[in-house]
Amino acid sequence: MTPERLFAGPGALGRAREWSRGLSSSGRVALVSDARVWRLHGARVERSLRGAGLTVVRHLLPAGEAAKSWDCVEGLLTAMLAGGLRRDAALVALGGGSVTDAAGFAAAVFLRGIPWVSAPTTMLGQLDSGLGGKTGINLAGSKNLAGAFHRPAAVVCDPDALKTLPARERVSGLGEALKYGLTFDPALWRLMVARWDELLSGAPGPTAEVVRRGAAWKKKIVARDPRETKGARELLNFGHTLGHALEAAAGLGALRHGEAVVWGMRAALRLSVKRAGLSAASALEADRFLAGVPVPLPRRPDPRRLLAQCRRDKKARAGKIRFILLRAIGRAVTMPVPEADILAAARELLS
Ligand SMILES: NC(=O)c1ccc[n+]([C@@H]2O[C@H](COP(=O)([O-])OP(=O)(O)OC[C@H]3O[C@@H](n4cnc5c(N)ncnc54)[C@H](O)[C@@H]3O)[C@@H](O)[C@H]2O)c1
Ligand SMILES: [Zn+2]
Repeated sequence: MTPERLFAGPGALGRAREWSRGLSSSGRVALVSDARVWRLHGARVERSLRGAGLTVVRHLLPAGEAAKSWDCVEGLLTAMLAGGLRRDAALVALGGGSVTDAAGFAAAVFLRGIPWVSAPTTMLGQLDSGLGGKTGINLAGSKNLAGAFHRPAAVVCDPDALKTLPARERVSGLGEALKYGLTFDPALWRLMVARWDELLSGAPGPTAEVVRRGAAWKKKIVARDPRETKGARELLNFGHTLGHALEAAAGLGALRHGEAVVWGMRAALRLSVKRAGLSAASALEADRFLAGVPVPLPRRPDPRRLLAQCRRDKKARAGKIRFILLRAIGRAVTMPVPEADILAAARELLS
């Protein structure tokens, strides 16, 4: 898979002439977004695509997790057909991870695949979900169980788009960024801890720095293991085994993805002490910080239900649930974890 070209910087969304070059030989593109992002940023992107000489078929998905369903993808595919798009067309996905996951998946399967551009408008999207070509939807109430690897031709990251991000979405993005710190990059973790208040309030300087460093990790890991067959890419799932289970148990969409990852990381820290040799002092220090991140749980899920959800996790092998754990801050490994330990960690965390 060819790596995507990155177009980053203030105003990047308005420079379609650059990032859409060579994208669609028919000159036709689907522009896919959600209603909220459309209202804030859509017209600018549409104008810019038209200015680049492209014919635009606009389609809006529901905002948030609801977009990641068969029905929504089918609606999008049908609209693309009705709009006259064929194999020589392309797709531009403008929005957070829900839009880029669902629309990227549509691009992967439309007439067996057309090129697409990922234009992430959330912090989480710009440092994680908008990059690397994992696309997909939820299935039977569980996260990301159907999908495809389909690398975008280009990724467009415009820091100006983040200015309109609600506080809750910012926290969600920061949650995913803390993952890179704990998993790979102790210096990034320390930077985030030190500048936390500025990050929470969306200060552009530190935000840009965290997005840049997070995206660089994502790029590096995906280059090492593009299809998650060699172990490296799996490590990006630190905090996600229990995190995805919590998202499902809360009802998909009730918790933001990065919020669930914060809870998931707290469980994984406990398991890391028990199973991977992480020092209790390091775990306690990291957990104290994560406990102060404003991610309330709407309701306390039953730990047994979480365990049942963990059994559906894509990393499970031979009936064993596998977790990403830390040997130290910045040193991650994947290993099977006994169900009794998972249950105990979930009980302790949610008590
Ligand atoms: N494909 C991957 O590699 C990958 C990686 C991590 C996460 N994900 C997925 O990404 C999804 C989460 O994505 P997300 O956190 O970006 O949220 P999201 O796409 O669900 O968007 C959340 C909300 O923010 C709004 N929004 C988006 N951009 C905005 C802006 N600039 N200003 C104002 N509002 C804006 C949206 O309308 C929506 O209401 C989850 O489904 C998760 O599983 C995928
Ligand atoms: Zn994630």
